[in-house]
Amino acid sequence: MARVLITGALGMLGQRMTEAFSVAHEVLATARNAGSGAQALDITDEAALAECVAVFKPDWIVNCAAYTAVDKAEVEEAQAFRSNAHGAAALARASAASGAVLLHVSTDFVFSGAHAAPCDETQAVAPVGVYACSKEAGEREVRRIAPEHVILRVAWLFGPGGKNFVDTILKVARTRGALRVVVDQFGSPTFTCDAAQAALKALEAGLRGTVHAANRGVVSWYGFAVEACRLAGIKVEITPISTSDWPTPAQRPEYSALHNRVLEERLGLFQRTWQEALAEHVALHGDAR
Ligand SMILES: NC(=O)c1ccc[n+]([C@@H]2O[C@H](COP(=O)([O-])OP(=O)(O)OC[C@H]3O[C@@H](n4cnc5c(N)ncnc54)[C@H](OP(=O)(O)O)[C@@H]3O)[C@@H](O)[C@H]2O)c1
Repeated sequence: MARVLITGALGMLGQRMTEAFSVAHEVLATARNAGSGAQALDITDEAALAECVAVFKPDWIVNCAAYTAVDKAEVEEAQAFRSNAHGAAALARASAASGAVLLHVSTDFVFSGAHAAPCDETQAVAPVGVYACSKEAGEREVRRIAPEHVILRVAWLFGPGGKNFVDTILKVARTRGALRVVVDQFGSPTFTCDAAQAALKALEAGLRGTVHAANRGVVSWYGFAVEACRLAGIKVEITPISTSDWPTPAQRPEYSALHNRVLEERLGLFQRTWQEALAEHVALHGDAR
């Protein structure tokens, strides 16, 4: 049984990580603000972090804390870098000082989007936009400072207990007769429950380095929306539109699908397809308003 410190435990992924690791390990769940069983811990507060690590003595630190407002980051650069780069560096120092393995969650947005096939862990990164740059800076800090680390990249997260594309689409589809969804951005949706299992298996197997953990397959936001509505039994007209028809403050990669080469080749772990994972989410949580 390992002692596991989880940061950002009340976020969408953090909740599922806490659930997954608690089955067989001793978990200390922490969040910026205490509540719902989580102890207060701001990852940028190095003194509090050092004290927490000294008292709890974790074997593994699982970092799910992050600034995740992709568009707002364009005007909140300091806040984005504070959590995503400085916070990651602080956790890396705590990991290096204590010997705890740091599993740091990152994103497909570290890739530029100029790809024609899913990116594996060896692909060069070239982030675009403040959020993407802050996450990539966090990855670099973790690699530089923490000898014992896993950088777990996920993409297009969906799952219970958080704001995500699927739940937003289903809510809007139920209240409006028609939807317009971007068809020229492609990625690999990731179910939070499956990402948490992949993180658990990676740490239990002693994996280190950069690891992709998306669900299998590639789809556009449009295709993702069509399948979510079909699975939820919602009849709604969905019109495919281009990125230029839906301008956002932050530029997003056109193609940032992930290939989980390390999980597949080193652990023999093949994540289920995004369609299978989406079917489970919609069946269990598709009624969430
Ligand atoms: N959502 C996606 O589609 C997606 C895609 C790819 C990768 N990721 C990555 O996956 C991870 C989890 O994302 P998520 O969707 O679960 O995010 P989320 O729901 O926004 O949760 C992030 C949590 O981190 C907390 N946090 C932020 N700064 C903190 C700090 N300095 N100290 C402690 N806690 C802090 C936030 O707390 P507050 O509420 O107090 O701010 C929030 O509870 C992140 O690393 C993200 O970059 C997400």
